[in-house]
Amino acid sequence: MPIILQNTSFTYAINTPFQKKALENINLEINKGELWLLVGHTGSGKTTLMSLMNGLLLPQEGNVIVEGMSTKDKKVNIKEIRKKIGIVFQYPESQFFQPTIKDEIIFAPKNFNYEINEEMLKYYLELVNLPESYLEKNPFELSGGEMRKVAIISVLSYNPDYIIFDEPTVGLDYTTKKSIFNLIKELLNLGKTVILSTHWINEFVSLKPNILMLKNGEISFKGEFDDFALLDDKVLLEAGIVFDEKLKLYRCALKKGKIDFAQKISLL
Ligand SMILES: Nc1ncnc2c1ncn2[C@@H]1O[C@H](COP(=O)(O)OP(=O)(O)O)[C@@H](O)[C@H]1O
Ligand SMILES: [Mg+2]
Repeated sequence: MPIILQNTSFTYAINTPFQKKALENINLEINKGELWLLVGHTGSGKTTLMSLMNGLLLPQEGNVIVEGMSTKDKKVNIKEIRKKIGIVFQYPESQFFQPTIKDEIIFAPKNFNYEINEEMLKYYLELVNLPESYLEKNPFELSGGEMRKVAIISVLSYNPDYIIFDEPTVGLDYTTKKSIFNLIKELLNLGKTVILSTHWINEFVSLKPNILMLKNGEISFKGEFDDFALLDDKVLLEAGIVFDEKLKLYRCALKKGKIDFAQKISLL
């Protein structure tokens, strides 16, 4: 069952001088196993959209329906929704508060009464290239990239079906970015649904993601990656998309109708 947003609008600080409409009439359906990239300039509404998906924010207009449960429905246990949808917020490592990495990772599953599987824990550590011995370390002894990895594993630990990443690669070096990308690829292989906001889209080309582009709180593009890649340079630059050589070449091949060549580039 999908996540559905129906005519969803959200306004911050309603009825105050700081009132700000962040999202306007969003319609979206995200199905199991899909990869969605949320793109758009800073302030376009990406974080707000993600917070609506797990009921952290409730829409004033329209509905957000997670596997048949509306986040606004008072009869729905919001914990059920939060357990299904894990969010890795921006700079998640700033929220660390446990004495060891292991405690940090198992905090959320405990909260959801979920029995954490040691095998899975080790598997995730291995996936992001962190040694098992790290489990007993203090989280603040880690480098920035390692902290980000631990924060991600702490969300994966309660086995949510949908995993939302808010700009997961910001401020990371290339190697760490790559290992987060590999982790996301593996999550998709496991059948998870992944939604992430990012300006760094080139790495995801080979995964044929769906794209949702926001502009001033409204959808300015929704659809398949290849259609998105064919949009004007101006539109993509406006949305803050980072162009690297791979993305440039890929778009060039697509524009010339050389689909096989584009495919090869995407796998580079
Ligand atoms: N807590 C808040 N209070 C008031 N306005 C907010 C708050 N959070 C975000 N906004 C505003 O809502 C709009 C969308 O913000 P956000 O969802 O954070 O966008 P993005 O994640 O794309 O940068 C922006 O204009 C932002 O200034
Ligand atoms: Mg944001």
